Amino acid sequence: MEVLKLLLFPTLFLATVTAEYVRPLPRKTLPILRDSFSRTHSSYPSQVHVSLAGDKHMRVTWITDDNHSPSFVEYGKASGRYDSIAEGESTSYSYLLYSSGTIHHAVIGPLEDNTEYFYRCAGKGSEFQLKTPPSEFPITFAVAGDLGQTGWTESTLAHIDQCKYDVYLLPGDLSYADYMQHLWDNFGTLVEPLASTRPWMVTEGNHEKESLLFLMDGFVSYNSRWKMPFKESGSTSNLYYSFEVAGVHVIMLGSHTDYDEYSEQYRWLKADLSKVDRTRTPWLLVLFHVPWYNSNKAHQGAGDDMKGAMEPLLYAAGVDLVIAGHVHAYERSKRVYNGGLDPCGAVHITIGDGGNREGLAHRYINPQPKWSEFREASFGHGELKIVNSTHAFWSWNRNDDDESVKADDIWITSLVSSGCVDQKRHELRSVLMTS
Ligand SMILES: [Fe+2]
Repeated sequence: MEVLKLLLFPTLFLATVTAEYVRPLPRKTLPILRDSFSRTHSSYPSQVHVSLAGDKHMRVTWITDDNHSPSFVEYGKASGRYDSIAEGESTSYSYLLYSSGTIHHAVIGPLEDNTEYFYRCAGKGSEFQLKTPPSEFPITFAVAGDLGQTGWTESTLAHIDQCKYDVYLLPGDLSYADYMQHLWDNFGTLVEPLASTRPWMVTEGNHEKESLLFLMDGFVSYNSRWKMPFKESGSTSNLYYSFEVAGVHVIMLGSHTDYDEYSEQYRWLKADLSKVDRTRTPWLLVLFHVPWYNSNKAHQGAGDDMKGAMEPLLYAAGVDLVIAGHVHAYERSKRVYNGGLDPCGAVHITIGDGGNREGLAHRYINPQPKWSEFREASFGHGELKIVNSTHAFWSWNRNDDDESVKADDIWITSLVSSGCVDQKRHELRSVLMTS
């Protein structure tokens, strides 16, 4: 069926139009979810999640209430038969009167591609099951930012669970704990059924910062709980990193740390882009929290400084797709650069619509800018199926009163296949050479 679509629609984009939709009200934060088993057994693992950690490796993260529980993971390809073991490390943090449990991280691997593994943390508690991503196309990413932990989050997660994704991409604003640290634990419990089975790759939003003047540095909880492969990708900060999976190079940037041309993030981004080999990874994706192309009145212009600093780099590198959150709505652009249409620019998607307690951003700038192809203030999630080196199918699914309804879809052709990347080779080299 998808091959047929490719033949029928060789053009760059094909979008569907949706009918008017009555937008729902926000929902409250869910009640405390911590399961009674881990509460009464302090050494039992809870809040289990997994993430990619370099080629053929994954990081398993879990939390125990006691500080004597060991940090190891047993794993294997058959239930209850663990023929491998990985030793990890643990950390904890204090936040005013709150003391976290012990946060364990263990990297397992080398793992076979596209394979189910069974694992158990610290020799106790439930057995979990994960699937590693494929090494070749096709690969499917699930996408939703600004997740939170409301009734809307719960149904959005159920929709994501149905979509048979390989990797989840979250462009910032995870728990909406907002200084109330027990809500990070609540969030960890809420997402465990999904996040323990597929890698969740996240970057930080403003709600992760939680800094307090003279008392608390920023991102203490986020960095402790959601450790991403920054060391594996040559970064010195958990706030920006990259990874490669099945022919896709994914760069996770930080909207809430320095990004100007003198910053460490900028230096790292240039180094990372210089290593991208488009014959090995023809698709190049970038995620960060605050959108650069946004026609919603919410957070209007908030991404302009970062855009001014970094968009020339991304353009010169031929980035195919940029995904952001922050604005609680959905918007998809045409290919753009420097504020205007450009066939060699990126498609920008804003998808801060996971379902957080703050509700939706309803008000838009009118008329709709030329670069804006589709926009709607609804909760929902995205699915990006990269079919091969030249074509990907993007769809956005509205959370329609708890039903998942496809409201926008489009075929996207890669910049490699359109010749843009070849054209830009000299441009990229000169941009990377300049400081
Ligand atoms: Fe945000």
